[in-house]
Amino acid sequence: MQRIAIFASGTGTNAARIIEYFKGHKTIEVSLVLSNNSKAPVLDKATNVGVETYTFNRETFYNTNQVLNKLNSKKVDLIVLAGFMWLVPENLVHSYSDRIMNIHPALLPKYGGKGMYGMHVHRAVKEAGETETGVTIHLVNKEYDKGRILAQSKCAIDKKDTPETIAEKIHALEYANFPLEIERYLITP
Ligand code: GAR
Repeated sequence: MQRIAIFASGTGTNAARIIEYFKGHKTIEVSLVLSNNSKAPVLDKATNVGVETYTFNRETFYNTNQVLNKLNSKKVDLIVLAGFMWLVPENLVHSYSDRIMNIHPALLPKYGGKGMYGMHVHRAVKEAGETETGVTIHLVNKEYDKGRILAQSKCAIDKKDTPETIAEKIHALEYANFPLEIERYLITP
């Protein structure tokens, strides 16, 4: 069995979709959902479908090996960031080199970097008058949104779109592509 740990900071609709996709999978399972926010709805979503959860704070994440030890104790093979808003610390990037995937709600390298997450991205895309946007799935290194790109998918933006309707289009692309890309990467890195 290959084991996935999902990091998420908030709602966790992508996390729920990934858990659902791998339910009953022959060789891949979601073993753990981790969050920096003990009130994040993603934690209830995971608990309700029987996936173990783990929360941490800034101090333990950046200044201890507690999160790494937890991942090791669960024999995690791949970390998946699904709406996770903190920079991944060096100890995790080092121990999970090429084994951390992130989804970003824009076509990187555009609209990436610190402060570019969630609705901030969609508002910036709308304000710039872009005619298309999309989703980037990439590996994670020490810098925000700079790791090797594994896959991108696009959608059109028309004049009537608002940041909210762009977010809906992006979520649909994410649900369709992220579980498949995780599966593909675990089978052929
Ligand atoms: C997703 O759209 C994801 O791409 C984005 O946050 C949203 C989380 O939604 N991630 C980032 O902006 C990371 N920089 P969800 O909690 O419903 O899955």
